[in-house]
Amino acid sequence: MRIDLFGVVLFLHITVVIIAFAMAGVMHTALQAMARAGTVQELRSWSKAMHRIEPLFPIMALLLLGLGSWLVHLGAHTDDGFRFSDGWIIVSIVTLVAVEAAGGAVLAPRGKKLTGLIEHAPDGPVSDEIRAATTDPAVWYAAHITTFAFLGVVFLMTAKPTGEWAWLFPTIGAVVGVVLSKLQLDGLGRGDAGDVPAQRAAVESAQKSRA
Ligand code: HEM
Repeated sequence: MRIDLFGVVLFLHITVVIIAFAMAGVMHTALQAMARAGTVQELRSWSKAMHRIEPLFPIMALLLLGLGSWLVHLGAHTDDGFRFSDGWIIVSIVTLVAVEAAGGAVLAPRGKKLTGLIEHAPDGPVSDEIRAATTDPAVWYAAHITTFAFLGVVFLMTAKPTGEWAWLFPTIGAVVGVVLSKLQLDGLGRGDAGDVPAQRAAVESAQKSRA
């Protein structure tokens, strides 16, 4: 059995990809659960999970970039002959940086605001301000564009298209992200989240009858 350094670094690179997608899965579930919650109590545990996971994304991006660059360096000395000038590598670096910048500019401040609102809200029905923050289109679009553009990068890594085609795949991923967010936000607007005023009235009447 011969295990070389390239194989070990590739394993680490793929492991980080798997962990990053798992983290994104929890964030997408949290978005859905929070937009549908009827009470502040239901929001608290999701808010804590989001608050813990969100700051880890830039670390994952740095690890991907670092391990990916190491792979390019190692690959330059093998038959594969990867180069930093290869289209699929340039596009993956640009996508990673663009996605992280968008995450930092859009997701981080809004995530912090939502966590603060939930932390300071009393138990009971979800306020209009919190409801608006949980269904903020900027957050939904940014989260889905990020995840699906990353999936486009997975295609770049596996198929290695040439420069003139490489940009297309993260772009297709981003478009899929836009469409999926729009469908879900439309669903929430149609009341797929449940009848929020009715949920709120039920919670309020339960509170009154307890008092
Ligand atoms: C969104 C970020 C990234 C994701 C999701 C990702 C994903 C992957 C995956 C799934 C593989 C395994 C492909 C295979 O074995 O066929 C891989 C390999 C690789 N990645 Fe990445 N990667 C990312 C960023 C990067 C970056 C920024 C670089 C370069 C700086 C890079 C360089 C490489 C190289 C050289 C390989 C080895 C390809 C091969 O051996 O065929 N990756 N990546």
